[in-house]
Amino acid sequence: MLDDYFETKEEEQDYYKMIAFQELFKVLRNNFLNIRELRVLEIASGEGQITRKLVTIFKNVTAIDPKLAMEEDYENLTKEIKYFNSSEYDCSNYDLLVSCCPCGLSEDIIYASKRYNVPFFIILCNCLHGFKTKEEWYINLKTKAEPAVLYKGKYEIWYLTNLKDR
Ligand SMILES: C[S@@+](CC[C@H](N)C(=O)[O-])C[C@H]1O[C@@H](n2cnc3c(N)ncnc32)[C@H](O)[C@@H]1O
Repeated sequence: MLDDYFETKEEEQDYYKMIAFQELFKVLRNNFLNIRELRVLEIASGEGQITRKLVTIFKNVTAIDPKLAMEEDYENLTKEIKYFNSSEYDCSNYDLLVSCCPCGLSEDIIYASKRYNVPFFIILCNCLHGFKTKEEWYINLKTKAEPAVLYKGKYEIWYLTNLKDR
C-alpha cells in the first residue's frame, strides 16, 4: 500500500502533486498543438514544486506568490513576489492559468479565467472551506466555474478545469 510507503505526510503530498501534474500535461496535450509556446501564469506557487516542472515544459512561465520560496532562477521564469488579485492583475498576456492547492484563492482564479478568457487548471486542496465535506466544496466551486469540469483523478486528486479532457 502507498500509505505505508511514505515516511512523512509531505512526501506523500509531493507524490500526489506530481501525479496531478501528469494529469495537467495529459489535458494540455489534448487541447493544444504546441504546448511549449504557451505563456503560463502559475498562481500561489509556494515552494515551487509545480513551478520546477512547468519550466521544463513551457517557454514562458510566471510564478506569483507573496511567499514564493524558490532560490533558483530559470531563464524562462519570471518570479512575482506579490499577491494575485483578479481585479488588479492583467491576465490577458497569458494562455493558461495553473494553480496547485491555492485554497481560498480558487474562486478568484476561476473569476480571472472568465474575465480574461484564459483557460485554467486548478489542482484542488483538501481543506473544507467551511463546508462539511471537501466534495461539497468542490461541487460549490464547480457551480461557479461552469462549464468547467471537476475531475477526480487517481489517488484522491481532484482538479477543476475548463479545458476539455477529450
Ligand atoms: C497551500 S499553499 C500551496 C503552495 C504550492 N502551490 C503547493 O502546492 O505546494 C498556498 C500558497 O498560496 C499563496 N497565496 C495566498 N494568497 C495568495 C494570493 N492572493 N496570490 C498568490 N499567492 C497567494 C501562499 O503564500 C501559499 O504559498
